Amino acid sequence: MNGRSLNASTTWNDMQADMGCGSKDALSLADITKTFRYRGEWYPTVADTSLSARDGEVVSLVGPSGCGKSTLLNMIAGLVVPDTGHIACGGDVVRGPNTRVGYLTQDDALLPWRTVRSNVALPLEIRGLPRSERRARAMDILGQVGLGGFERHYPAQLSGGMRKRVSLARTLVSDVRTLLLDEPFGALDAQTRVLSQRLLTSLVERMQLTVVLVTHDLDEAITLSDRVVVLSRRPARILDVVSIPLARPRDVTEKSSEHMHLYRQIWTTLAEQLEVKQESERDLGPAARSEGE
Ligand SMILES: Nc1ncnc2c1ncn2[C@@H]1O[C@H](COP(=O)(O)OP(=O)(O)OP(=O)(O)O)[C@@H](O)[C@H]1O
Ligand SMILES: [Mg+2]
Repeated sequence: MNGRSLNASTTWNDMQADMGCGSKDALSLADITKTFRYRGEWYPTVADTSLSARDGEVVSLVGPSGCGKSTLLNMIAGLVVPDTGHIACGGDVVRGPNTRVGYLTQDDALLPWRTVRSNVALPLEIRGLPRSERRARAMDILGQVGLGGFERHYPAQLSGGMRKRVSLARTLVSDVRTLLLDEPFGALDAQTRVLSQRLLTSLVERMQLTVVLVTHDLDEAITLSDRVVVLSRRPARILDVVSIPLARPRDVTEKSSEHMHLYRQIWTTLAEQLEVKQESERDLGPAARSEGE
């Protein structure tokens, strides 16, 4: 696509025409590039990336560490502005902080001085909703993530898995239908991770959520997703988009031969990127450099 650059007069119809995408797309990225400048050097981080997610679709992004996955989510969330290309969400061109998405960031921190309930209600407080409505909605969503009864606890009084569920509840409380999840379960122990993946699956089905999920766990990507997007090392480019035709409901503890076939397909593409990255010191981005340089 020869994308026109985004400007104030760009309409949704312009975007649709440019991207050749259907109106069913909850999310569309077209020809996105991003280069960061750090200590006088330029670091191309995302290159020529176009992808979309239909309503109710779960799309996973997998790729080497430092390739640009979180940067892609930051751009969808409207927190980082792409150098070129367009992003649209739920029919609107993203031009600033994107209130149509709930974003569980990689380092999603809960505020330690706030109770579980007031952590969850924070986005509603920022939007100026009345206290009674904030409380009611926070309590409802806490029930949905299985944390009813823990609303008066403080984050330090919860397990890691429970804190993740509080973060998920805070992401969902604004009634969004599109979620951006950046390695949501990466730091959890194996058993808690399986339970969290099951919870996410049931929330996605019950709330008909559209999800973009960043993960390093290929089993998680295959089990949860409709499509898995495999990204190159930095700058991130799409190397493969793997459709996951496995019947639902799926469970991450059950790996059929079809699941294993998909795993091998994705891993083969990914492994090449990991090998090249290890060999190429000059490709390391600023995040990987020591602060003392
Ligand atoms: N605001 C920024 N300024 C400068 N460089 C940045 C900025 N944000 C990200 N980068 C750089 O962009 C590259 C990609 O970072 P990003 O966080 O998107 O990677 P990632 O794929 O999410 O990695 P990981 O899997 O380790 O979380 C890194 O080299 C990082 O240092
Ligand atoms: Mg990241």
